[in-house]
Amino acid sequence: MAAPPAWWQTAVLYQIYPRSFCDRDGDGIGDLAGVRARLAYLRWLGVDGIWLSPIYRSPMADFGYDVSDHCAIDPVFGDLAGFDGLLGDVHDGGQRLLLDWVPNHTSDRHPWFVESRSSRASAKRDWYFWRDGRDGQGDAEPPNNWRAAFGGRAWTWDPTTAQWYLHLFLPEQPDLNWANPAVAEAMHGVLRFWLDRGVDGFRADVIHLIGKDAALPDQPPDLAEIDLVGVHDHPSAHPLLRGIRAVLDDYPGERVMVGEVNLGSPRLLAPYYGTGDELHMVFNFSLLWAPWDPLEWAARIAESEAALTPAGAWPVWVLSNHDTPRHRARYGGSEGRARVAATVLLTLRGTPFLYAGEELGLRDADVPAERRVDPGGRDGCRAPIPWDGSPGHGWPATPWLPWPPDATSTNAATLADDAGSILHLYRRLLAARRASAALHAGSWALLDAPPGVLAYERTAKDMGDRRRVWANFGDGAAECSADGRWTVQVDSSSPAADDHRVWDGHLAPASAVVLGPAG
Ligand code: NOJ
Repeated sequence: MAAPPAWWQTAVLYQIYPRSFCDRDGDGIGDLAGVRARLAYLRWLGVDGIWLSPIYRSPMADFGYDVSDHCAIDPVFGDLAGFDGLLGDVHDGGQRLLLDWVPNHTSDRHPWFVESRSSRASAKRDWYFWRDGRDGQGDAEPPNNWRAAFGGRAWTWDPTTAQWYLHLFLPEQPDLNWANPAVAEAMHGVLRFWLDRGVDGFRADVIHLIGKDAALPDQPPDLAEIDLVGVHDHPSAHPLLRGIRAVLDDYPGERVMVGEVNLGSPRLLAPYYGTGDELHMVFNFSLLWAPWDPLEWAARIAESEAALTPAGAWPVWVLSNHDTPRHRARYGGSEGRARVAATVLLTLRGTPFLYAGEELGLRDADVPAERRVDPGGRDGCRAPIPWDGSPGHGWPATPWLPWPPDATSTNAATLADDAGSILHLYRRLLAARRASAALHAGSWALLDAPPGVLAYERTAKDMGDRRRVWANFGDGAAECSADGRWTVQVDSSSPAADDHRVWDGHLAPASAVVLGPAG
């Protein structure tokens, strides 16, 4: 018998962008007390754990991905006592909590960088990347041709010490130099600080960037105009990841790390798992960027299976997060398609990450120019969660960003009262996944399907459990082969009361079914 799966393999994790989730102190910005107040909702929904986007002290140039104190909670979110209370409540409810960890860079206001920039002789000078201008050209020419993720070059000239410093994101986010063992040790210390408090693990921000070629060579001319984040894949990341994994493995209870590695192809992700000694999981964004076409989805899922399975690497599926327009819009805008996407996300082999608000079928807010605040243009998907149909939607003050469309009808309370809503569909899918070993731990195999339909089977041989999923991506009905041996467990287009009928092979437009064996 195979070893039982680890908790993080059978879990569904829910990403909370804390500023936009729930405000309790009345400043229009979500906070830890707000998360705590909504834990009952998350238990009702049926997710197994939460990933919190950064809550650390930060000047908020990149809304928390610019950390100025890794071991303090930003006052806008609360304090350490509030954090401990939240963690205790999460655990009491049988759920898990992952924090975001930002290893590649700090804020330019972090004391480490303040000290580093103060003088060329600073003890922390080498904690960041300081270089002279190319060929002695001083402030006229940066050291190499790297581009930053939010536009412009990846170097800023610092007149105090007359050198350039590297930042693959904003100038306010200088890159840490992980080749310096003191940096690695300090960042391990940050992990230990939170592990000692009892967190279950971390989501590691752009972690593939921590390994850099010490020579910082130019990008080849064909890549010179694009930012480095999507192509940077240097082998020196791997020993660093093994060091990080050793810190986690020192703690009881399978503390886990899921890494953001923005390298398109799943083939490039597999090495970041090491031989079970680097990252436990790596986000796979291949469906997030897929067109709404079942052949493309089948190809990308099969490609991921082929890249990850032989390496013993556990897949992770993501359709939305705080960096991209919500998938409903990306996949064409209809709620039917959002329901099909939810059905696929929650029935693939691997750990799904669900971005807060997807369960409500939210769309991005239309943010007028004068209210845009994000340097990366990502405000729309960060719109606040509408909790009810009142004018304030359950928020005590006007939120920091505008509401998503139709918040009067599209909100948690209204949808909770409607058994046929997308919210109840998510809840039924989560329950079906939890109840079936085939769905939460079984193998995956593609089935033949008519045009416009994606179909696959999930099998847990050991447990004698099988499920089939048929997903109609098309906007017309589809007829599939049904042999009378399957019953409908979840139908994305109808409320729970219609389930458990023998499946006749009919799929309504933009709908999906999860089937279990009849009898
Ligand atoms: C990836 C994060 O998801 C994004 O929000 C952030 O801006 C960058 N990393 C920089 O930390």
